[in-house]
Amino acid sequence: MTEPASTKVDMEKIVSLCRRRGFIFPSSEIYGGLSSCWDYGPLGVELKRNIKEAWWRAVVQERDDMVGLDASILMHPQTWEASGHLKGFADPLVECKSCHLRWRSDDLEDNNCPSCGGELTEPRLFNLMFKTFMGPIEEEASVVYLRPETAQGIFVNFQNVVNTTRKRLPFGIAQIGKAFRNEITTGNFIFRSREFEQMEIEFFVKPGTDQEWFNYWLEERLNWYVKLGIKRENLRLRQHTKGELAHYARECYDIDYLFPMGWAELEGIANRGDFDLVQHTSFSGKNLEYFDDETKEHFVPYIIEPSAGVDRSALALLCDAYDEELAEGETRVLLHLHPALAPIKVAVLPLSRREKLVVVAKQVYADLRRQWMVSYDDAQSIGRRYRRQDEIGTPFCVTVDFQSLEDEQATIRERDTMNQIRVPISDLKTILAAKLSGEELFVLPPGGKIWKGERET
Ligand code: GAP
Repeated sequence: MTEPASTKVDMEKIVSLCRRRGFIFPSSEIYGGLSSCWDYGPLGVELKRNIKEAWWRAVVQERDDMVGLDASILMHPQTWEASGHLKGFADPLVECKSCHLRWRSDDLEDNNCPSCGGELTEPRLFNLMFKTFMGPIEEEASVVYLRPETAQGIFVNFQNVVNTTRKRLPFGIAQIGKAFRNEITTGNFIFRSREFEQMEIEFFVKPGTDQEWFNYWLEERLNWYVKLGIKRENLRLRQHTKGELAHYARECYDIDYLFPMGWAELEGIANRGDFDLVQHTSFSGKNLEYFDDETKEHFVPYIIEPSAGVDRSALALLCDAYDEELAEGETRVLLHLHPALAPIKVAVLPLSRREKLVVVAKQVYADLRRQWMVSYDDAQSIGRRYRRQDEIGTPFCVTVDFQSLEDEQATIRERDTMNQIRVPISDLKTILAAKLSGEELFVLPPGGKIWKGERET
């Protein structure tokens, strides 16, 4: 019997699990770390790849009206004039006259330094884009910026994509990539960092149909998180007030998640109207209008932008999946990660290191890893090995025991229920494939008939 030990997750537990099990490390840790930059370890990189894969599958692979793009991080500097980032992408900063620490003035409750209580300067605007130089000479003419969002790479390629794919409106372009912001207020682990990854869609529509598409994408994106296992009650839609709206947005909603520090933005969905294509037309001199073959009209499409963060998704998914329960007198920590997201899908565990068992277990391991990320663990007791896999969210463990040598069967143990079934080794792949894709499967003991759907009585 299991019972919940605690329903509350605090950030420290997530940070500690990520550190301990190799999901996420501070960047350049041996040098003391680099503020607000993070390295994804062996399990973190798999989780992140799986999140991106799930997003790409949902928004590109399974749709007729979407194509992908991978634009470069460094873009022509005029891009950022046109986008408004050079002028408008800034936070108001104040500096403490005593300790010289800088703070975002809109985060402060009064005019005193939160660190030493000292007097603060008047606010000055501080641009959040990272600057660097292209070529060997560091001069104003060679300044380029690390992109603060992936979106602009899509806007400047709009005509290229229309011309080469012959996509007709409405259609979207999707992109996953790194973005950089010299954030002033960082913290809360990977929630706000200076280097992060975005998953952005720019969906081009005929003006007048934008509201309908905006509503469509709000629902579609919210459902994506729910399908990946995030509890609906931990998600909400929050509309931006007029004062909050970005310079390009006509309307915007955030999909907020209830993080350990409170409700905060997971994804933003904006109706950008024709702002971006009009701006790039005016700065580049290139016509970015769309020609509608049916109505014979030329017009500038409106854009609906669902813009998500890979790192914030990872944090929300980890927080939502984290669980502790009392099992057999001790606390079992587990991640209820959706199988599609779990870094390791199956762990193969020989009951002992005896050679005869190892030969069979290694064969099973070799066979399964051709299909999935699988790990092999033969260290310590079987109970401890199960716990280790639970803690990193591995949905299934396959145990090879002495009986396996005789009956050519192995045990599949499920993470969430801890139920075990015994199945023929020759059917392992088929059964695991069905289970990983969420099919109901029952196996008659001992390791006999397997069927799908309703349990036979
Ligand atoms: N193109 C629109 C855009 O970039 P945004 O709301 O500034 O909009 C979109 O960013 C998403 O990118 C956010 O919802 C968040 O998930 C992620 N994001 C933004 N800044 C971030 C940061 N400093 N650290 C981690 N993720 C960030």
